[in-house]
Amino acid sequence: MTTQEILENEQEFQLTTYSKLDLAIVRGRGPWVWTSENETYLDLYGGHAVCAVGHSHPEVVRAIAEQADKLMFYSNVVYSDIRAKASATLVSIAPEPLAKAFFCNSGTEANENAMRIARLATGRSKIVSFAKGFHGRTADSISATFLGKYRTLGEPNVPDHVEAEFGNIDSIDSVIDTETAGVLIEPIQSMAGVREASPEFFKSLRQKCDEVGAALIFDEVQTGIGRTGEWFFAGSKAAGEVVPDVVSLAKALGSGIPVGACLVSEELARSIKENDLGTTFGGGMVAMAAVKATLDVIEADGLTENARNIEKWVRDACASNADVKAVHGKGCLLGIEFENGARPVYQKLLGEKIITGLSSDPNVLRLLPPLNVSESEIALFAEALNR
Ligand SMILES: Cc1ncc(COP(=O)(O)O)c(C=O)c1O
Repeated sequence: MTTQEILENEQEFQLTTYSKLDLAIVRGRGPWVWTSENETYLDLYGGHAVCAVGHSHPEVVRAIAEQADKLMFYSNVVYSDIRAKASATLVSIAPEPLAKAFFCNSGTEANENAMRIARLATGRSKIVSFAKGFHGRTADSISATFLGKYRTLGEPNVPDHVEAEFGNIDSIDSVIDTETAGVLIEPIQSMAGVREASPEFFKSLRQKCDEVGAALIFDEVQTGIGRTGEWFFAGSKAAGEVVPDVVSLAKALGSGIPVGACLVSEELARSIKENDLGTTFGGGMVAMAAVKATLDVIEADGLTENARNIEKWVRDACASNADVKAVHGKGCLLGIEFENGARPVYQKLLGEKIITGLSSDPNVLRLLPPLNVSESEIALFAEALNR
C-alpha cells in the first residue's frame, strides 16, 4: 500500500484521536525507519520512547519468535520459566529495597496499580502528585495528571488527588500529611518539556514520606530501563540516591510488545495479598521474552553508558548553535529549548528526514532516541540542526 492509501484507510476506519505525521512507517532497524515508499528516516523519537534498543533488535525479535513458537500465552494461573527469568533479571538491576515485580500491560496501568499498592499498604486514600506531571489516561492515573487539559478529560476524577508544586520543597510540607497514602512523581517531567528537580527535592520527598508513613512512587515509564544513563532514576545521583517504595515502568521495558510493571519494596510487598492486584495479560510469555531480551541487550551492549555518551554528543552539538537556549534532561531523555518556538525546528528536521518530538512547552523539542544511536548518527542530527 502507498502512504496515501494507508493514510486514507486509517482515517476512514479509526477514531481521529491522534495528531499524526504524514508518514506510514513499515520497517525499522536500529534508529532507522522506512516508509512504504522506502524513504529512510532517522528516528530520534525512538518510536515514542519505546525502542530503547532500536527498532526490531534482532535479539529481541529472535526471543519473541522462539517464545511464540513454544507458548504464546498462559495467564498467572500457572508458573512460567520465562516469567521467572524476566522478573529475576528485572529485580536484579533494581536498587534495594525494590525486590518484587508485578507485571501489567501499559504505563497507565502500572501507575494505577502503584497507587492501589500505596492505598492498600497504608489504609489511606489520598494521593499527592505534581503540577505538569503526566501519568496516563485511565481514571486514577489521569486524576493524578496535573498537566494541561488531561485531568479535565478524565472528569469525573477519582477523589482524593491533591496537587503539589514540582521541585518546590516548601510546597510539599503542607500537602503531604498523615492522610497521604502515596506521593506519585514523574522524576523528570518529560511531556511538560523535560523539567528537572534537584537531588535535595527528592531527599526532602523521601524524608517527608517516611515522616508521615506515605509510600513514595516514581513513575519511571519514561526515565526507566536505562534511558537517563542509569538503569533507573531511582537511586541515581540525580535523585539524591533516593529509592522510592514503588517504581512504575512501561514503554522501553518490552521494546514495543505492550508490557508494564511495578517494582515494589520488600516492606510494601508484605502488605499485598492474593487477589489484591491482577490482570489477564500481565506476565504473558511473549511479553516476558521481550522484557528478558531487552534487558539482556542493554546490559550486554553497555547501553546505559552509551545513553550518557549520547547526551554529551547532543549537548556538544547544541553548544555551538546560537538558537539553542538550553538543553534539559539526562541521557536519552533530552529537551532542547529554543528562544522562539520548537515547532518550526521540528518541522524542518522532519523535512531533513529526522523524527524528533514536541512537548507541552512550545519552546522545547524532545529527543527520546534509542540508547544505541552512534556518534555519527548524532552528527547527522547536529548538521541538520545547524542548517
Ligand atoms: C511518564 C509517563 N507515565 C505514564 C504514561 C502512560 O503510559 P501508557 O501510554 O503506556 O499508558 C506515559 C506515556 O506517555 C508517560 O510518559
